Parts: sequence; structure tokens; C-alpha cells
Amino acid sequence: MSHSSEAPSPWHFAPGKPLTGSLTVPGDKSISHRSLILSALAVGESRISGLLEGEDVLATAGALRAMGATIDRSADGEWQVQGVGVGSLLQPEAALDMGNSGTSARLLMGLVASHPITVNFIGDASLSRRPMARVTEPLGRMGAEFTTSPSDTLPLMVQGICPAIPICYRLPVASAQVKSAIMLAALNTPGVTEIIEPVPTRDHSETMLKGAGANVRVETDDDGTRHIFVTGEANLQPQTITVPGDPSSAAFFIVAALIVPGSDLTIRNVGINPTRAGLITALRDMGGDITELDRRSVGGEPVADLHVRASALTGIDVDPALVPSMIDEFPIFFIASAMAKGTTRTSGLEELRVKESDRLAEMARGLKALGVALEEQPDGLVIQGRDGEPFAPDDAVTIEQVLDHRIAMSFAIAGLVAKTGITIADISPVATSFPDFTKLLQRATGGQEAISGVRA
Ligand code: S3P
Repeated sequence: MSHSSEAPSPWHFAPGKPLTGSLTVPGDKSISHRSLILSALAVGESRISGLLEGEDVLATAGALRAMGATIDRSADGEWQVQGVGVGSLLQPEAALDMGNSGTSARLLMGLVASHPITVNFIGDASLSRRPMARVTEPLGRMGAEFTTSPSDTLPLMVQGICPAIPICYRLPVASAQVKSAIMLAALNTPGVTEIIEPVPTRDHSETMLKGAGANVRVETDDDGTRHIFVTGEANLQPQTITVPGDPSSAAFFIVAALIVPGSDLTIRNVGINPTRAGLITALRDMGGDITELDRRSVGGEPVADLHVRASALTGIDVDPALVPSMIDEFPIFFIASAMAKGTTRTSGLEELRVKESDRLAEMARGLKALGVALEEQPDGLVIQGRDGEPFAPDDAVTIEQVLDHRIAMSFAIAGLVAKTGITIADISPVATSFPDFTKLLQRATGGQEAISGVRA
């Protein structure tokens, strides 16, 4: 299933027309994973529309099928899931291949931890480098047992336990994946599990579990610390779910429209949940012209159409409090920063080093190749912006394959404002989260002439 086994697909991205008209981004990746997982835990049939059909989400679907759920897709794009019920996941016959997806791996490890089954998790080279102790530690306290590779990575075997032990756990890293893994384990654990979240992260698991009828209660202290209480032995109801558009995918088009002169683009159906919308706040602070139109609710999440016009951006110091709500958007935010006037400083980004790649190092490397003056610090980048001047590297720039969709897409957008264009050595990782990325970019820029595929 993994794109990494296929031949690399090099693409060249070069300046062309401004981005105009309107487009709709695919379904939210985080919400898509959770839609499938909660549906697999309900008794009866759930229906999901707008599901992101990217490789990461398909890895979750494949794993849930292997543990007993029936998951089908009809021709109109609706997905139907027959769940097995909390506590009734089956022992899979083979290892579960998580591909490139940290969300699949960590959330499903939580799910398995409180079921009496033993599961092997495997993944691609990128996922097999990513830290798993952050989930094996709390799930171990609940009674599950783990056999990991050295340095606590995949391949990894989970021996679940039933009944598991409810815990009270303070998250040592701001991570919605860790929070969600514990919440999913708690669903089949007698008693009340409490998760203490000092720094709020995306809250889709809380919202969606409540929507499915689980007893989930959230209390917030005066200092903003959240306490999430999950009552176990839950019964989840099957649901009809509409997945809103992914703000993390919209991010590439928001920045493209801001930095490509003359652009005037509307991006429809974008989730604007405050735990995900930090990029919009930061870009507006820089002078970005982004207007929310037709605010509405889709599947219990706030959504709007975003009207974005090319803007002269000014560098800022990004408020560290914004970091969790734009954690996946920093690669493309760095591209915007490089085109702004003056200096942009970011800090508190050490988590970026353990994403699909070391995103601080990869972005610093690529931006330097483009001629951008910057300083790489342990927890952030300090970028001297070019005040709208196109990137003008001495030599043609190729961004090497690092199995990271967001690095590939960020430099693809940078190519639209780079004099010689930019070659992405392998565009195929975009299929993990945004399979139609190049198609939508071609459409927004008026056709093939704006960007062209060049097979090496
Ligand atoms: C996600 C949480 C974030 C994010 C990832 C999706 C989720 O990861 O980077 O793309 O769906 O819960 P962390 O929990 O590691 O911050």
C-alpha cells in the first residue's frame, strides 16, 4: 500500500498564473481517522461522507477491517461501516501496516491496548523512526504490554489487556495523538480515566466521542489546563458523519494565494476549529488578507469558505501559545515567512523534529538552497524574509525525498515564486493526505502551463 515502494515521481513547480476562482479541499485527516475508528466501535451501521481517501486514512480502514469491522465505499463516495462494538475487536491474522501514518499507529495502539488481542504494528521507513514511548508509557500503565524495536519505535507488538486499569495521566507532550490513544483505550476500561492536558490540542476526539454517546466530560482550570474524563465500558451509537474540509490541506492554498502576486482565491468548506486555526491567526498578524465567508457547522465542527487575496506580508514573532493549533502548518508557514518583509521568529517547535521528517532541518535545508537567510535553532527557525522578491537560487533546486507530504507540498508552493522553479524529487508522498494536490493546483493556476510534471 505504501507509495515508498513505487518509482519516485519527480515534479517541477514554476511561476505561472495567479491563483483564482474557487476550490474545495479534501476531508480533514484527523476527523477521517476518528470517523472510521468510532464507527468501527459502534454497534450497527455508520455512514460517512467527505472522508479523506488518502493513504493514511486507508491504513486505518485496513486495520479496522482486519479487526472485524466491515467497511465499504459506494460509488457516490459515501462510506459505510458496520461496527463490532467496544470490547469486541478481533485478533488480526497479520501485522497491521500503518504506512506513513503516525495517527493510525498511535490511535490504534490505544484501541488495541484494552482489548484481549495481540497486534503487530509495522510502518514505512519514516514512521519506523518516530517515537512511540509517548503512547506505550501511559498504555503500559493501563496494563497493556509492548515489545518495541530498540529506541521504542515500530515494528512493535501490543498485547492488550481486558479489563485494563483506569489511570490519571498528565500529558508530558502536547499531543492529540497521545490524548486520543488514551481516550480510546479508556472506552473499554472499567471506571473513569482522566487525562490532564496542560496545553490544549485538537479536540476532535472529545467532540466526536460525545457525539457518539460516550460519557466524556471536560473541565478547564483557570490557567487553561484541561481535564478530560472518559467513563469506560461505553456503548457508542452508529452515526451519519460529514467530514469537513481539512485546514491543514487548505494551508498550502492559503499561503500560495497570499504569496503569488495577483491571486484572488476562495477555498470552500475549510474547518476553522480554534484548535486547528493558528495558521490563519498568524498569517493575518503578518498582514494576510483572509476573510471567512458563510461560517457554518459541518459535522459538529465550525467551517467557513476562505477568501484569500495576495498580500504584502510582514515578519512576526509567532506566539508560542499558537503552536499546537498550527503544528502541521509550520512547513508552509516558513515559506510565507521567507516571502515576508523582515524577520519571523518561531520557538517551541521541538515536536517538528519528530514528525514525518525532521521538519525544522528539512525546511532549513530547502530554504537555504533557495537563498533564504535563516538560523536553525533547536526549537525553531529565524527567517529573514525577502519582502516579496522571488526566490533566486544560484543553482536549480531539487528537494529530495524524505517521505514527508508536507515538505513536498510546501516546496511545491515555493516553486510558484522561485525564478528557476523547484523540482520535487518525488511528489508521491502527497497521497498520504492530499491525493489531488497537483490537480487542484493546476486548476487554481489556470491549467498545465503553471506547473508541469517532468519525469526524470
Ligand atoms: C494529529 C495530531 C498531531 C498532528 C497529526 C494529526 C491527530 O500529532 O501533527 O498530523 O489527528 O491527532 P501530535 O499528536 O503528535 O502532535
